[in-house]
Amino acid sequence: MGFHAESLTCEYRTDVLGLDFKAPRFGWKLRSDRRGTLQTSYRLQVAGADGDYSAPLWDSGRVASDASIQVAYAGPELRSRTRYHARVKAWDSFGRESAWSESVWWETAFFTPDEWRAKWITPAASAIDPQATPAFMLAKRFEVKPDIVSARVYATAAGVYELYVNGEKVGDELLAPGWTSYRKRQQYQTYDVTNLLTAGGPNGIGAMLANGWFKGRLGWETTFNLYGDRRALLLQLHIAYADGTEEIVCSDESWKAAEGAIRLSELYDGETCDANLEQPGWSTPAFDDSAWSTAESIALPVTHLTAQEHHPIRVIETIKPRELIRTPNGEVVLDMGQNMVGRIRMTLDVPAGTTVTLKHAEVLDKDGNFYVGNLRSAKQAIVYTAAGVPGETYAPTFTFMGFRYLSVAGLPEEQAEGLMDAIVGEVIHTDMAPTGEFDCSSDMVNQLQRNIQWGQRGNFVDVPTDCPQRDERLGWTGDAQVFVRTAAFNYDVAAFFTKWLRDLKADQNPNGGVPFVIPNALFETDPPTPQEKIPSSSAWGDAAVIVPWTMYLCYGDVRLLSEQYESMCAWVSFIRNEGENEYLWNTGFHFGDWLGLDAKENSYVGATPRDLIATAFFAYSTRLVRETAVVLGKAADVRKYSELHDRIKAEFSREFVTPSGRLAAPTQTAHVLALMFDLVEGDVKKRIARELNELVVQNDYHLTTGFVGTPYLCFALSDNGYHATAVKLLMQETYPSWLYSVSKGATTIWEHWDGIKPDGSFWSDAMNSYNHYAYGAIGEWMYRYVAGLDMDETEAAYKKIRIRPRFADGSLTHARAALESPYGRIESGWSQEADEITVRFTVPANATAELVLDDVALAELKEDGLAADLADGVTAAEEADGSVRLTLGSGSYAFRYPAKQEAEQEPVTA
Ligand code: BGC
Repeated sequence: MGFHAESLTCEYRTDVLGLDFKAPRFGWKLRSDRRGTLQTSYRLQVAGADGDYSAPLWDSGRVASDASIQVAYAGPELRSRTRYHARVKAWDSFGRESAWSESVWWETAFFTPDEWRAKWITPAASAIDPQATPAFMLAKRFEVKPDIVSARVYATAAGVYELYVNGEKVGDELLAPGWTSYRKRQQYQTYDVTNLLTAGGPNGIGAMLANGWFKGRLGWETTFNLYGDRRALLLQLHIAYADGTEEIVCSDESWKAAEGAIRLSELYDGETCDANLEQPGWSTPAFDDSAWSTAESIALPVTHLTAQEHHPIRVIETIKPRELIRTPNGEVVLDMGQNMVGRIRMTLDVPAGTTVTLKHAEVLDKDGNFYVGNLRSAKQAIVYTAAGVPGETYAPTFTFMGFRYLSVAGLPEEQAEGLMDAIVGEVIHTDMAPTGEFDCSSDMVNQLQRNIQWGQRGNFVDVPTDCPQRDERLGWTGDAQVFVRTAAFNYDVAAFFTKWLRDLKADQNPNGGVPFVIPNALFETDPPTPQEKIPSSSAWGDAAVIVPWTMYLCYGDVRLLSEQYESMCAWVSFIRNEGENEYLWNTGFHFGDWLGLDAKENSYVGATPRDLIATAFFAYSTRLVRETAVVLGKAADVRKYSELHDRIKAEFSREFVTPSGRLAAPTQTAHVLALMFDLVEGDVKKRIARELNELVVQNDYHLTTGFVGTPYLCFALSDNGYHATAVKLLMQETYPSWLYSVSKGATTIWEHWDGIKPDGSFWSDAMNSYNHYAYGAIGEWMYRYVAGLDMDETEAAYKKIRIRPRFADGSLTHARAALESPYGRIESGWSQEADEITVRFTVPANATAELVLDDVALAELKEDGLAADLADGVTAAEEADGSVRLTLGSGSYAFRYPAKQEAEQEPVTA
């Protein structure tokens, strides 16, 4: 196999059309057949549009460096709207030179707003009421000369849009342009339409537009027109000819407009479509548009436009229904077998004019009837009136639904039985690459892992949302913050969160406060809502710091850290300026330990004092800003934030720890935060850890934590000598626990520990999502602490891996995880058979690892019967306090050692 450089990416993607980075960064992976392989140097080449490397545009030359991720382009200035090609080769620590990697390409988009010549257009208000619900089309016919070399469309919309050329839908992205803080930032998309145009003849181009996030219904208070009251299109088509000339077709007043078959399409409410109103061929050159109205231009800016920043939303998977149910109430219901997010596609054979109504629900009630109470006012309904064409198919275009069950009405009775074949579910989400796998010997825990992944898929639809079904679906900062590290295990979310953080920064108040949701849909007004009216909550606003830091840890993204640094510091300053005491945050509104089970009756907020939570997060964010200053080399800030951190920590103890070393708040969450954020030390820490353990044991190994405490609970236990208790919490099947919902048949993570109560009744309709990823944050602990796939945080992006499996007192007999990290695939797993434990793991080339195993002596650890410390690839071995630490290089390893008899659980000091 030798030594190879492969999987070259540009800004986390491959072959990307439309990037506006002037110094895009490359990353590649190395593959080696020898253990202990490191990169010693690399050479990058970038070629221009012709892909000719014999005279490359940029040749880095051989650079002595082990950098194989986040390597920025440093050649001559790039031109806009140009295709570039890149390839890389590397040399390794054995003196081997790889071949050139496969060549990849990227294409630049516009670099400056003045490249936009097109006008924002919308149908003339005199012809189509801007507030009318139907989707409308805007189209134009034009001539193309012979000999096209390439053709690109750059387009975006106020609203959501789909592009058509000569009757064909262009591209496979859905719900473009995606959701950003539109008044400040809006993405445009780039499409290659070279093969769709007819050279030397007439052509047609058009777009269909619906309300989407821009002007559709958003928020539970039913707000329309959040960002503007007219949908509009901005489109610019560039056609390059063989003779070197170029022609540009722009959206302008020469376009025509009309309504079509989609009579209503709203994100929350679904879609109403009357196929009889279809205008076949509306984007083709032959279409007669004489009945269409004119378009008018409207004043919207282009200065805030940015090329698509992350992977688009697509149909990722299709699912067939599992079962046809007739409910006690007589409804015909399809069970998709999975709580999914997306849409259905149906094929019908019905007379023209037949109206079929589909409703979408996450659960059936305890009697087995269709239940939509928890959707609140969101209708999630599809109303389709058929054209009567045999085999006609329909899928809604500008909406998505969160559902497992589908009620179908309006079909002739004899067709109900055929529904299983007539309908498929199309799962949609941001097309992020799957990167993580976890499985173990417990089927229920494996189902939990699937539920976490499905929760992520359903809620990573362009922005990280709280839930995908009710009249909410907003980018709640707290939810994103607690889940971000788990998210980065399951999928590659680097570009996804880069985009979202830019919105966070754009929507952050001048005083540093961070709105509850990003984009800030709850306070979006023109002129802007005064900052003093936009509240910020601890543990929610801390997303401003925790999310960029996590992106840095997981992907080594220093550029993102420096882009966000000001925003991170502003958040900490905001807190510092709140109230009288600059080291304690005891003022303002906070969500607290949201949905904690120790809440008073009729309250959503757990018993942990809100000022304790606020101060703990203040300390944590300050610490992370300090770490960031270290990474960015800002010495003065390192001192400033170190001092601030020390003061907050002291203040935390003064306020919340009794003189004898007890935490003043007797809740699990309070103990968890004090431990996780290192707010206590020495004997006090030991005592607080012991008391946390007691709180869990006394509660018969059940948690009481809400959004704030839950993500850290098992970490706080495992890190402080109570790993066995943490494992018992994971394995707990009775309410409240992670596996309780699994025992109730959940296929996603619920918002409430008791979304469905043991007697089958529901939590109140008011707030009861069955697809809320927050509690799925346990996934991070499963990867890192159960399977042992972890990193040494002093070297980001898994450059230095830590393999540290912790065993589970026999309740699990094996566990394994894999992560497609920036350096390549990491694996970590263990199995326990009879008297022997086997630990298997893989370290990608150009990374190193430290293996940490407890309860073993170095002499017992063997690979193929030989002493492990002598194994190829092992560079150092150390033994201390019953633990073994091996330092090793890349490669796949399998070590074995005798299992110890189960020891009494005793706290060990970290
Ligand atoms: C959302 C949460 C969010 C919360 C704020 C809810 O309506 O669904 O997930 O974090 O409000 O506490």
